[in-house]
Amino acid sequence: MERTFCMLKPGVLQRRLVGEVLGRIERKGLQICALKMMQIPRAQCEQHYAEHKERPFFSSLVAYMTSAPVVAMVVEGQDAIRYLRTLCGATNPAEAAPGTIRGDLALVTQNNIIHASDGPESARREIELFFDAGEILEYQDGNQSWLG
Ligand code: CMP
Repeated sequence: MERTFCMLKPGVLQRRLVGEVLGRIERKGLQICALKMMQIPRAQCEQHYAEHKERPFFSSLVAYMTSAPVVAMVVEGQDAIRYLRTLCGATNPAEAAPGTIRGDLALVTQNNIIHASDGPESARREIELFFDAGEILEYQDGNQSWLG
């Protein structure tokens, strides 16, 4: 089973969309194995988005992401990284297909509802940055039989 990191951006709690987004992730059959609300410390946010440090939107992105609480989680399942990215849709909501989380719920690239790791290396790094090993729980996945 593959694990990925996922974060619901400040607008999700502010717009009362947590249940909507979590519901989509759960209905797909992915398993939530760690979940917490937090306000990200600035240094942790800068580390999380370090690859974008030179981009013009970096300071605005960090300001937004630290402005209010987020929901951080670890999501597990077969090909979880790819399935979750597909559920999210394109980074720019204008290019995200209807039916995707960003396509249905977002208008602005920076405030695009959800972050999901883009590969195994970033998933490992991001999970470690946000969660202690003891916060990630294992339990029987009732969907395993139909995940195939
Ligand atoms: P996320 O998936 O969290 O990964 C990097 C984030 O940077 C991205 O979602 C957006 O929130 C933000 N981002 C990427 N490109 C732009 C852009 N052109 N303008 C503003 N924000 C951006």
